[in-house]
Amino acid sequence: MGEVDSAFIQNPENRPKLSIIQAKGIPVINLSPIIHHTAQDSSAIESLVKEIASACKEWGFFQVTNHGVPLNLRLRLEEATKVFFAQSLEEKKLIIDDNGFPGYHDTEHTKNVRDWKEVFDFLSKDPTLVPLNSDENDDGVTQWTNPSPQYPPHFKVIIEEYIEEMENLGFKLLELIALSLGVEAKRFEEFYIKNQTSFLRLNHYPPCPYPHLALGVGPHKDSGVLTILAQDEVGGLEVKRKTDQQWILVKPTPDAYIINVGDIIQIWSNDAYESVEHRAKVNTEKERFSIPFFFNPGYDTEVKPLEELINEQNPSKYRPYKWGKFLVHRKDSNFKKQDVENLQIYHFKLP
Ligand code: OGA
Ligand code: NI
Repeated sequence: MGEVDSAFIQNPENRPKLSIIQAKGIPVINLSPIIHHTAQDSSAIESLVKEIASACKEWGFFQVTNHGVPLNLRLRLEEATKVFFAQSLEEKKLIIDDNGFPGYHDTEHTKNVRDWKEVFDFLSKDPTLVPLNSDENDDGVTQWTNPSPQYPPHFKVIIEEYIEEMENLGFKLLELIALSLGVEAKRFEEFYIKNQTSFLRLNHYPPCPYPHLALGVGPHKDSGVLTILAQDEVGGLEVKRKTDQQWILVKPTPDAYIINVGDIIQIWSNDAYESVEHRAKVNTEKERFSIPFFFNPGYDTEVKPLEELINEQNPSKYRPYKWGKFLVHRKDSNFKKQDVENLQIYHFKLP
């Protein structure tokens, strides 16, 4: 190729900042001090905790390497996911629950705009007892039950094995986050004892002829505790940088996981760590796959700032809410276009 015609070259101040943005992307944190050492080195852990604290404060997002999740298992799940989504729509629709959750669905909306994607959701604890709907006055209950896909073979077993790894990693990350907030390492475990509502989502973003008009997932914040995301080499996840509100592309890093703190950590930490907005772009040529694990507490959890972090100088910023009700409300509203804005945590913010 010859040199670029100078007629195409913008003045420096007008050049797209893409490469700079990618180079200064979200922090990458090496977890080997807590994964690979039997006699844990306390100074290495201390510096890890500091890295976590600053990543949570500055970005709300980070990537982890040396996380202990076997690469081979991830590859098997990614392969099975491709085979699953390559089936016809009719075949995929066979494994849909009445409520559209868990199971296969392709009509999810983020803030009332339909996402350019199809998904398969699978609960980590099954079945989960939930109210019939989010109406406060209705005491009826129903169950969320995982589907049993028959194809590809061993799909369910692979998913279950992978979820176990996600939970292990999730608990380790929660310990680091607890320490970084100055509370007991195991502080958050009590919220996971009963009726855990975590789920794994397999995302397929087909190629899209309108990448300037549609999004794979519209801008949103994750409502749970932590999200542990595996994205493929295509990329498309963008994170809103806190310092200047710019959308920053998260460069795919093989075998790394992308972690973000959700709304519940924002509340537990009384706004010390904020849940950050993100979205997923689509592109015209390539399909993209991503696999988030939403690490969520028990259905009955009352979400409110940790008592240890509250005092006269730093009073609680939120009134308590019931996580389960919130989740059901979100699920109800995500499957249809609604006139009302869906439930957000600022609705619980104290004046
Ligand atoms: C989500 C999400 C991003 C991605 O499913 O909540 O933010 O890259 N996904 O798929
Ligand atoms: Ni998200």
